[in-house]
Amino acid sequence: MKKFNSTDFNINNVGDKVTLYGWVSKIRNLGGVIFIDLRDRSGIIQVIVNPDNPYYSVAEGLKNEYVVEVTGEIVERQSKNPNLATGEIEVVVERLELLNTSLELPFAISDATTALEDTRLKYRYLDLRRNELQSKLIIRHKITMAIRNYLSELGFIEVETPILCKSTPEGARDYLVPSRISKGKFYALPQSPQIFKQLLMVGGMEKYFQIARCFRDEDLRADRQPEFTQVDMEMSFVTADDVMNVTEGLLARVFKETKNMDLQLPLRRMKYDDAIEYYGSDKPDLRFAMPIQNVSDVFKNTEFSVFKNVLDNNGIINVLVVKNAADKYSRANLDKLTEFVKTYKASGLAYLKIADEITGSIAKVVSEDNIKDLTSLLQLENNDLVLFVADSYKIVKAALGALRCKLARDLQLFNEDDYALLWVVDFPSFEWSDEENRFMACHHPFTAPLDSDVDKLLTDKAHCYSKAYDIVINGYEAGGGSIRIHDQQIQQKMFEALELTEEQIRNKFGFFVDALKYGTPPHGGLALGLDRLSMIITNTENIRDVIAFPKTTSASDLMCEAPNIVDEKQLKDLNIKINN
Ligand code: AMO
Repeated sequence: MKKFNSTDFNINNVGDKVTLYGWVSKIRNLGGVIFIDLRDRSGIIQVIVNPDNPYYSVAEGLKNEYVVEVTGEIVERQSKNPNLATGEIEVVVERLELLNTSLELPFAISDATTALEDTRLKYRYLDLRRNELQSKLIIRHKITMAIRNYLSELGFIEVETPILCKSTPEGARDYLVPSRISKGKFYALPQSPQIFKQLLMVGGMEKYFQIARCFRDEDLRADRQPEFTQVDMEMSFVTADDVMNVTEGLLARVFKETKNMDLQLPLRRMKYDDAIEYYGSDKPDLRFAMPIQNVSDVFKNTEFSVFKNVLDNNGIINVLVVKNAADKYSRANLDKLTEFVKTYKASGLAYLKIADEITGSIAKVVSEDNIKDLTSLLQLENNDLVLFVADSYKIVKAALGALRCKLARDLQLFNEDDYALLWVVDFPSFEWSDEENRFMACHHPFTAPLDSDVDKLLTDKAHCYSKAYDIVINGYEAGGGSIRIHDQQIQQKMFEALELTEEQIRNKFGFFVDALKYGTPPHGGLALGLDRLSMIITNTENIRDVIAFPKTTSASDLMCEAPNIVDEKQLKDLNIKINN
């Protein structure tokens, strides 16, 4: 067992004799003396081999990434390196042993690497040698330990649930595993342990958690992986407030232990409808203000045909006010912003630049009264930029919500170490699907409606809200959960509301619905995305940075070359034929 890390030592250890193990990070020969940067997980220490050393020829044969054991004395360095934790000392080698050689690397092990991500993913085991990736995985470990300790202290029991199971009702596409024994049948990999954790409550576990691997075959993005990890929790005899309190305490512990930051609790709560109204998103980034503001009333008598048409067709006109930034946006920049909102189906982006003489794409068509009203409503000042989208409610909110985040990023309206956490609560129970031409469950069909809205389950689905909550950090949905339905009659009503037939209920959730009839305690829970939480805490926008062996956006593992073809024999055993 190795005894020391390179960075265990400093100037106080001068005179100590040490043995160190690691990789040759850099090697150079300066006037006969060989200088080696020896790297281990903790960092780098300089090691020197003098020409009269009996191991000098071993040192001469070293190359980058060779693995060595060195024994020597710590001395004070002549020229110190303030950028290195061990920069005041070096080890004068007495014994040097070569433990292994290395092929020439496809890219240098350096934090400033310019290697393409695909190359780094193919040689992930080399990429993992970089301090940047190692430090992120170490922080992820700290987060996991903080969570495990916190929940155990509160009496939560960690329970594992099956990976080979029947499809769970989370709504994405399942990954399927064919059964060899039951020909023609498939297991589904869990999209989350949702059903099992509720069954654990029926089973009397009362407080459960699991660091659970989940699988979803969905379109991937920078914050999504096909397999990812949840901190999954469920509790009996609780209200939504209880679940939120436990989660807040957990996050406070994580932020304290990983960033030495004190979260201000309780966290802010915002209703879903308000999040959409003011931020155009159910995961608003509150590191900066810039709310979406409604100016429809200002234009109710307008002659400007574009605005008039929108209002006549029950649309809305909303704006973002970008404070003191009009001079930063040229015509070409604004054209780019217009293209940006068009990707959210908005028909265009109008703008005004506030100055003594107002300019902008609609400066000539808005009346003086309009300007006066806008100025007082929006408290406009010189050099403000006002960006307008006029369209249907949904399009306006989505376009301005996304634009707001883009502008904040472009204008650097927040710092890397700003954190804005909030709960988004009171999600609708249902969302309308144009495709299916009916209301679908917003979460899963076991999400309890608000007590005040139980009667709306069948009569007013559009205004039925649920006991569902999401924890949002810096514009990411870091977690979500709900209080579940434990009352049979309400569950029945919910199925009815979702227009599920008895047969569909039986096929989809048969055993689960049966289980709920055996004295189910009131219960609720939440799942945090551990990968997303790790991204947020390590300040990266790429989920792959916090996963040791991640997949690409096309769900492949470039190192293992998965997915891949399999032997004919394996297919035959499974009774599967591939149609080419
Ligand atoms: P939900 O589907 O909201 O809830 O998932 C919980 C959290 O998991 C994370 N997450 C993901 N992270 C990375 N890649 C993905 N593809 C991905 N999908 C989701 C998000 C999300 O907030 N069973 C319910 C929880 C409950 O009701 O208790 C569930 O899975 O951070």
